[in-house]
Amino acid sequence: MAKNVALVTGGMGGLGTAICKALADDGWRVAVNCLPDFPPAVEWVAKTKADGYNFFVAEADVTNYDQCGAMVKKIEAEFGQIDCLVNNAGITRDAVFRKMTKDQWDAVLSTNLDSVFNVTSPILPLMAERGFGRVINISSVNGVKGQFGQANYSAAKAGLLGVTKALAQEVAKKGVTVNAVAPGYVGTEMVLAIKEDVREQILATVPVGRFGKPEEIADLCVFLASDKAGYITGATININGGLHMV
Ligand code: CAA
Repeated sequence: MAKNVALVTGGMGGLGTAICKALADDGWRVAVNCLPDFPPAVEWVAKTKADGYNFFVAEADVTNYDQCGAMVKKIEAEFGQIDCLVNNAGITRDAVFRKMTKDQWDAVLSTNLDSVFNVTSPILPLMAERGFGRVINISSVNGVKGQFGQANYSAAKAGLLGVTKALAQEVAKKGVTVNAVAPGYVGTEMVLAIKEDVREQILATVPVGRFGKPEEIADLCVFLASDKAGYITGATININGGLHMV
Protein backbone atom coordinates (compact mmCIF):
# COMPACT_ATOMS: atom_id res chain seq x y z
CA MET A 1 0.00 0.00 0.00
CA ALA A 2 1.44 3.38 -1.00
CA LYS A 3 2.07 5.61 1.95
CA ASN A 4 0.10 8.84 1.91
CA VAL A 5 -0.04 11.33 4.74
CA ALA A 6 0.67 10.73 8.41
CA LEU A 7 -0.52 13.38 10.86
CA VAL A 8 1.33 13.69 14.15
CA THR A 9 -0.29 15.88 16.81
CA GLY A 10 2.03 17.82 19.07
CA GLY A 11 4.61 16.93 16.46
CA MET A 12 7.21 19.51 17.43
CA GLY A 13 7.86 18.16 20.92
CA GLY A 14 10.58 15.73 21.98
CA LEU A 15 8.72 12.55 21.12
CA GLY A 16 6.74 14.16 18.29
CA THR A 17 9.84 15.29 16.43
CA ALA A 18 11.34 11.81 16.52
CA ILE A 19 8.05 10.27 15.34
CA CYS A 20 7.73 12.76 12.45
CA LYS A 21 11.29 12.10 11.31
CA ALA A 22 10.99 8.32 11.57
CA LEU A 23 7.73 8.26 9.61
CA ALA A 24 9.25 10.50 6.94
CA ASP A 25 12.34 8.27 6.79
CA ASP A 26 9.98 5.35 6.17
CA GLY A 27 8.37 7.10 3.19
CA TRP A 28 5.37 8.84 4.75
CA ARG A 29 4.52 12.43 3.89
CA VAL A 30 4.16 13.97 7.31
CA ALA A 31 1.80 16.70 8.50
CA VAL A 32 2.98 18.14 11.79
CA ASN A 33 0.39 19.61 14.08
CA CYS A 34 1.23 22.43 16.47
CA LEU A 35 -0.69 25.18 18.25
CA PRO A 36 -1.65 28.19 16.10
CA ASP A 37 1.14 30.78 16.11
CA PHE A 38 3.32 28.39 18.11
CA PRO A 39 6.45 30.47 18.85
CA PRO A 40 9.05 27.67 18.37
CA ALA A 41 7.51 26.61 15.02
CA VAL A 42 9.63 28.81 12.74
CA GLU A 43 12.89 27.59 14.24
CA TRP A 44 11.67 23.96 14.29
CA VAL A 45 10.73 24.09 10.60
CA ALA A 46 14.08 25.69 9.68
CA LYS A 47 16.02 23.10 11.65
CA THR A 48 14.17 20.10 10.22
CA LYS A 49 14.50 21.57 6.69
CA ALA A 50 18.24 21.85 7.25
CA ASP A 51 18.17 18.17 8.25
CA GLY A 52 16.49 17.37 4.90
CA TYR A 53 12.84 17.09 6.00
CA ASN A 54 9.92 18.85 4.37
CA PHE A 55 7.01 18.74 6.78
CA PHE A 56 3.55 20.23 6.26
CA VAL A 57 2.70 22.37 9.28
CA ALA A 58 -0.91 21.90 10.39
CA GLU A 59 -1.96 24.39 13.03
CA ALA A 60 -4.77 23.66 15.47
CA ASP A 61 -5.32 23.69 19.20
CA VAL A 62 -6.12 20.02 19.80
CA THR A 63 -8.42 20.97 22.68
CA ASN A 64 -10.63 22.80 20.18
CA TYR A 65 -13.00 20.55 18.22
CA ASP A 66 -13.74 23.04 15.42
CA GLN A 67 -10.08 23.87 14.86
CA CYS A 68 -9.30 20.15 14.54
CA GLY A 69 -12.02 19.64 11.93
CA ALA A 70 -10.73 22.60 9.94
CA MET A 71 -7.14 21.29 10.20
CA VAL A 72 -8.13 17.88 8.82
CA LYS A 73 -10.00 19.49 5.90
CA LYS A 74 -6.99 21.67 5.11
CA ILE A 75 -4.52 18.76 5.16
CA GLU A 76 -6.75 16.62 2.93
CA ALA A 77 -7.27 19.51 0.48
CA GLU A 78 -3.74 20.87 0.35
CA PHE A 79 -1.42 17.98 1.20
CA GLY A 80 -3.11 14.60 0.74
CA GLN A 81 -5.23 11.89 2.32
CA ILE A 82 -4.48 11.04 5.90
CA ASP A 83 -3.80 7.31 6.23
CA CYS A 84 -2.05 7.47 9.59
CA LEU A 85 -2.81 9.49 12.69
CA VAL A 86 -0.51 9.61 15.69
CA ASN A 87 -2.30 11.16 18.66
CA ASN A 88 0.82 12.32 20.45
CA ALA A 89 -0.04 15.76 21.87
CA GLY A 90 0.31 15.74 25.63
CA ILE A 91 1.26 17.82 28.65
CA THR A 92 1.93 17.26 32.32
CA ARG A 93 0.73 19.31 35.30
CA ASP A 94 2.08 17.13 38.10
CA ALA A 95 0.96 17.63 41.69
CA VAL A 96 -0.09 15.41 44.55
CA PHE A 97 -3.86 15.11 44.39
CA ARG A 98 -4.54 17.15 47.51
CA LYS A 99 -2.68 20.08 45.92
CA MET A 100 -3.97 19.56 42.36
CA THR A 101 -6.07 22.44 41.09
CA LYS A 102 -9.11 22.17 38.85
CA ASP A 103 -7.09 23.99 36.17
CA GLN A 104 -4.34 21.37 36.34
CA TRP A 105 -6.91 18.58 36.05
CA ASP A 106 -8.77 20.20 33.16
CA ALA A 107 -5.65 21.17 31.20
CA VAL A 108 -4.32 17.62 31.19
CA LEU A 109 -7.65 15.93 30.49
CA SER A 110 -8.47 18.24 27.60
CA THR A 111 -5.02 18.21 25.99
CA ASN A 112 -4.27 14.53 26.50
CA LEU A 113 -7.70 12.90 26.14
CA ASP A 114 -10.37 15.22 24.67
CA SER A 115 -7.85 15.93 21.91
CA VAL A 116 -8.08 12.33 20.76
CA PHE A 117 -11.81 12.74 20.19
CA ASN A 118 -11.34 16.11 18.51
CA VAL A 119 -8.69 14.96 16.02
CA THR A 120 -9.78 11.38 15.42
CA SER A 121 -13.46 12.02 14.84
CA PRO A 122 -13.04 13.89 11.53
CA ILE A 123 -10.42 11.39 10.28
CA LEU A 124 -11.68 7.93 11.26
CA PRO A 125 -14.75 7.92 8.95
CA LEU A 126 -12.49 8.86 6.02
CA MET A 127 -10.12 5.99 6.81
CA ALA A 128 -13.01 3.54 7.17
CA GLU A 129 -14.55 4.65 3.88
CA ARG A 130 -11.22 4.20 2.08
CA GLY A 131 -10.57 0.82 3.65
CA PHE A 132 -7.22 1.63 5.24
CA GLY A 133 -5.99 3.51 8.26
CA ARG A 134 -3.61 3.48 11.18
CA VAL A 135 -4.38 5.25 14.44
CA ILE A 136 -1.66 5.25 17.07
CA ASN A 137 -2.45 6.72 20.48
CA ILE A 138 0.53 7.67 22.61
CA SER A 139 -0.36 6.63 26.13
CA SER A 140 2.16 6.15 28.95
CA VAL A 141 3.44 3.64 31.46
CA ASN A 142 1.75 5.90 33.97
CA GLY A 143 -1.62 5.33 32.29
CA VAL A 144 -1.05 1.61 32.71
CA LYS A 145 0.25 1.56 36.30
CA GLY A 146 -0.72 4.98 37.72
CA GLN A 147 1.87 7.37 39.13
CA PHE A 148 2.29 9.32 42.35
CA GLY A 149 1.64 12.99 41.57
CA GLN A 150 -0.08 12.30 38.27
CA ALA A 151 -3.76 11.60 38.95
CA ASN A 152 -4.71 13.83 36.01
CA TYR A 153 -2.10 12.42 33.60
CA SER A 154 -2.67 8.80 34.65
CA ALA A 155 -6.43 9.25 34.17
CA ALA A 156 -6.04 10.73 30.69
CA LYS A 157 -3.47 8.17 29.57
CA ALA A 158 -5.56 5.28 30.95
CA GLY A 159 -8.57 6.79 29.17
CA LEU A 160 -6.64 6.56 25.93
CA LEU A 161 -6.33 2.81 26.38
CA GLY A 162 -10.11 2.50 26.63
CA VAL A 163 -10.66 4.65 23.56
CA THR A 164 -8.12 2.54 21.68
CA LYS A 165 -9.87 -0.75 22.46
CA ALA A 166 -13.35 0.57 21.68
CA LEU A 167 -12.37 2.18 18.38
CA ALA A 168 -10.33 -0.84 17.34
CA GLN A 169 -13.47 -2.97 17.48
CA GLU A 170 -15.55 -0.42 15.58
CA VAL A 171 -13.23 -0.18 12.56
CA ALA A 172 -11.49 -3.58 12.50
CA LYS A 173 -13.46 -4.77 9.48
CA LYS A 174 -12.66 -1.57 7.57
CA GLY A 175 -8.91 -2.09 7.34
CA VAL A 176 -8.21 0.41 10.11
CA THR A 177 -6.12 -0.53 13.11
CA VAL A 178 -6.11 1.41 16.38
CA ASN A 179 -3.32 0.81 18.87
CA ALA A 180 -1.78 2.42 21.92
CA VAL A 181 1.91 2.83 22.60
CA ALA A 182 2.73 3.19 26.28
CA PRO A 183 6.24 4.62 26.67
CA GLY A 184 8.09 4.68 29.93
CA TYR A 185 10.39 7.55 30.88
CA VAL A 186 12.02 8.91 27.72
CA GLY A 187 14.79 11.50 27.63
CA THR A 188 12.65 14.48 26.59
CA GLU A 189 12.04 17.88 28.15
CA MET A 190 8.92 16.51 29.82
CA VAL A 191 10.98 14.04 31.82
CA LEU A 192 13.86 16.46 32.35
CA ALA A 193 11.34 18.83 33.99
CA ILE A 194 10.95 16.39 36.90
CA LYS A 195 12.98 17.50 39.94
CA GLU A 196 16.42 15.94 39.70
CA ASP A 197 16.23 13.96 42.95
CA VAL A 198 12.81 12.54 42.02
CA ARG A 199 14.06 11.76 38.51
CA GLU A 200 17.07 9.90 39.89
CA GLN A 201 14.77 7.84 42.12
CA ILE A 202 12.64 6.93 39.11
CA LEU A 203 15.69 6.04 37.02
CA ALA A 204 16.85 3.68 39.75
CA THR A 205 13.64 1.67 39.26
CA VAL A 206 14.12 1.16 35.50
CA PRO A 207 15.56 -2.36 34.99
CA VAL A 208 17.50 -1.48 31.82
CA GLY A 209 19.17 1.32 33.79
CA ARG A 210 18.52 4.25 31.48
CA PHE A 211 15.73 6.41 30.13
CA GLY A 212 14.36 5.58 26.70
CA LYS A 213 15.37 7.34 23.51
CA PRO A 214 12.66 9.16 21.51
CA GLU A 215 13.82 7.24 18.42
CA GLU A 216 13.01 3.93 20.13
CA ILE A 217 9.38 4.99 20.57
CA ALA A 218 9.30 6.41 17.03
CA ASP A 219 10.51 3.14 15.50
CA LEU A 220 7.66 1.28 17.18
CA CYS A 221 5.18 3.80 15.73
CA VAL A 222 6.66 3.26 12.27
CA PHE A 223 6.11 -0.47 12.58
CA LEU A 224 2.52 -0.04 13.80
CA ALA A 225 1.88 2.30 10.87
CA SER A 226 3.21 -0.20 8.34
CA ASP A 227 1.38 -2.84 6.33
CA LYS A 228 3.23 -5.47 8.34
CA ALA A 229 1.22 -4.54 11.45
CA GLY A 230 -2.22 -5.18 9.94
CA TYR A 231 -3.07 -7.93 12.43
CA ILE A 232 -2.23 -5.82 15.50
CA THR A 233 -5.23 -3.86 16.70
CA GLY A 234 -6.63 -2.80 20.06
CA ALA A 235 -3.22 -3.51 21.56
CA THR A 236 -1.29 -1.60 24.17
CA ILE A 237 2.41 -1.95 23.41
CA ASN A 238 4.54 -1.25 26.46
CA ILE A 239 7.98 0.18 25.78
CA ASN A 240 9.37 1.12 29.14
CA GLY A 241 12.74 -0.53 29.77
CA GLY A 242 11.06 -3.06 32.06
CA LEU A 243 9.72 -0.41 34.46
CA HIS A 244 6.32 -2.08 34.43
CA MET A 245 5.87 -5.59 33.07
CA VAL A 246 2.38 -6.66 32.07
N1 CAA B 1 5.44 6.99 46.22
C1 CAA B 1 5.14 7.26 47.49
N2 CAA B 1 5.48 8.39 48.12
C2 CAA B 1 6.16 9.30 47.41
C3 CAA B 1 6.50 9.09 46.07
C4 CAA B 1 6.12 7.88 45.47
N3 CAA B 1 6.42 7.59 44.19
N4 CAA B 1 7.16 10.18 45.63
C5 CAA B 1 7.22 11.04 46.65
N5 CAA B 1 6.62 10.51 47.73
C6 CAA B 1 6.48 11.11 49.03
C7 CAA B 1 7.73 11.88 49.41
O1 CAA B 1 8.67 11.00 50.01
C8 CAA B 1 7.19 12.91 50.38
O2 CAA B 1 6.97 12.29 51.63
P1 CAA B 1 7.24 13.12 52.98
O3 CAA B 1 6.34 14.34 52.90
O4 CAA B 1 6.87 12.16 54.06
O5 CAA B 1 8.69 13.47 52.94
C9 CAA B 1 5.80 13.24 49.81
O6 CAA B 1 5.44 12.10 48.99
C10 CAA B 1 5.77 14.50 48.97
O7 CAA B 1 6.67 14.30 47.86
P2 CAA B 1 7.37 15.47 47.13
O8 CAA B 1 8.33 16.17 48.02
O9 CAA B 1 7.93 14.96 45.84
O10 CAA B 1 6.14 16.47 46.88
P3 CAA B 1 6.16 17.73 45.99
O11 CAA B 1 4.83 18.40 46.19
O12 CAA B 1 7.40 18.51 46.15
O13 CAA B 1 6.23 17.11 44.51
C11 CAA B 1 5.49 15.95 42.60
C12 CAA B 1 5.17 16.34 44.02
C13 CAA B 1 5.65 17.21 41.72
C14 CAA B 1 4.33 15.13 42.05
C15 CAA B 1 6.80 15.16 42.57
O14 CAA B 1 6.69 14.08 43.48
C16 CAA B 1 7.12 14.58 41.22
O15 CAA B 1 7.58 15.28 40.31
N6 CAA B 1 6.90 13.27 41.03
C17 CAA B 1 7.16 12.61 39.75
C18 CAA B 1 5.92 12.61 38.91
C19 CAA B 1 6.23 11.94 37.62
O16 CAA B 1 6.66 10.79 37.54
N7 CAA B 1 5.98 12.63 36.50
C20 CAA B 1 6.25 12.10 35.22
C21 CAA B 1 6.48 13.24 34.26
S1 CAA B 1 7.11 12.66 32.71
C22 CAA B 1 5.81 11.91 32.02
O17 CAA B 1 4.70 11.96 32.47
C23 CAA B 1 6.08 11.14 30.75
C24 CAA B 1 5.60 9.76 30.88
O18 CAA B 1 4.60 9.42 30.26
C25 CAA B 1 6.34 8.80 31.69
